[in-house]
Amino acid sequence: MEKTLIILKPDALQRGLCGRIITRLEEKGLQIVGMKMMQIPRALAEKHYEMHKGKPFYDGLLRFMTSSAVVVMALAGRDAIAIARKLMGATFGSKAEPGTIRGDFGVSNVFNLIHGSDSLESAQRELGLFFGAGEVLEWTPAIQGWVYDMSKGQAE
Ligand code: RTP
Ligand code: MG
Repeated sequence: MEKTLIILKPDALQRGLCGRIITRLEEKGLQIVGMKMMQIPRALAEKHYEMHKGKPFYDGLLRFMTSSAVVVMALAGRDAIAIARKLMGATFGSKAEPGTIRGDFGVSNVFNLIHGSDSLESAQRELGLFFGAGEVLEWTPAIQGWVYDMSKGQAE
């Protein structure tokens, strides 16, 4: 199964929205395979957002992401990366569609509640940054055969 890195950003915790956001991801059928809390150290935030280095919003973004506790999650599922991005909605809360996490819970373009990897390559890179050996678990949900059609031996 494909895996993606999700971060519930400091505003999600400060506003008490973690439970509701995690519920949406779980209800869709994405499987939690890793989860922990941390306050992201500056050096880790710099690595995570290195592709944005030099952009006008970079410093503010790092200040926000390191300002308070976050929840970091590894989610698994068929097409998990694209599915999580769809559930999140567009980057800016002001533009995100109703029905999405960013569209329903926020209006800010900076405090946008959730991060999700945007490609297979970035998912692998980001999971490696945030999770150590043994922190992402292999387990089979008891309901898997009703979330996916497994009759051909793979998830469809
Ligand atoms: P994220 O990485 O946080 O999940 O967000 P994203 O993929 O939807 O957006 P991305 O382009 O990766 O940008 C990372 C974060 O930088 C801020 N941003 N500001 N002012 C701007 O033009 C601008 N563009 C991006 C956002 O806070 C975004 O979450
Ligand atoms: Mg991004």
